Amino acid sequence: MKDYNDSMFLIETKVPEAEIIISRTDLKGVITYANHIFCEISGYDDHELIGKPHSIVRHPDMPKAVFKELWESLEKTGKWEGYVKNLRKDNGYYWVYASISGVYKDGKLIEYKSLRRPISFEEKVNAQIHYDNMKKEIGEPTRHIEYR
Ligand SMILES: Cc1cc2nc3c(=O)[nH]c(=O)nc-3n(C[C@H](O)[C@H](O)[C@H](O)COP(=O)(O)O)c2cc1C
Repeated sequence: MKDYNDSMFLIETKVPEAEIIISRTDLKGVITYANHIFCEISGYDDHELIGKPHSIVRHPDMPKAVFKELWESLEKTGKWEGYVKNLRKDNGYYWVYASISGVYKDGKLIEYKSLRRPISFEEKVNAQIHYDNMKKEIGEPTRHIEYR
């Protein structure tokens, strides 16, 4: 994860309504597939993503506890859904609502896949406030963000 610096992470990339960002990972969260729109939105080529941990797009505004809950939920139920702020290669960001579920072959869990949709401005503000509050509760640093 990159260090905090107030002048970074400020440019938002809008996720287009008609597109779905898709990735798949192995059972440890290492990327095995990234669709064209995931590459475009995150700013990486697919060869830069495949074989890397999915935390390559982890944004420092995301509390650790969200991912802890994500992995616990995947282990227990095979699914997780929630709001995620992701980091682009150029240090910009994009918000999505992600739905992660298992990929099964002959009844056996072999991978996870994540499908993401864009979210509204209001959802972004609410998610940012919620995640900032989660970080403050456990003393993780937060940044001052002004919404316009
Ligand atoms: C299918 C799948 C998709 C994921 N997508 C993201 C994502 O878009 N952004 C993200 O930060 N973490 C995502 N994760 C969670 C990461 O694997 C990782 O737990 C998280 O980035 C926190 O990194 P850390 O555990 O190294 O701190 C995904 C995990 C899975 C299984």
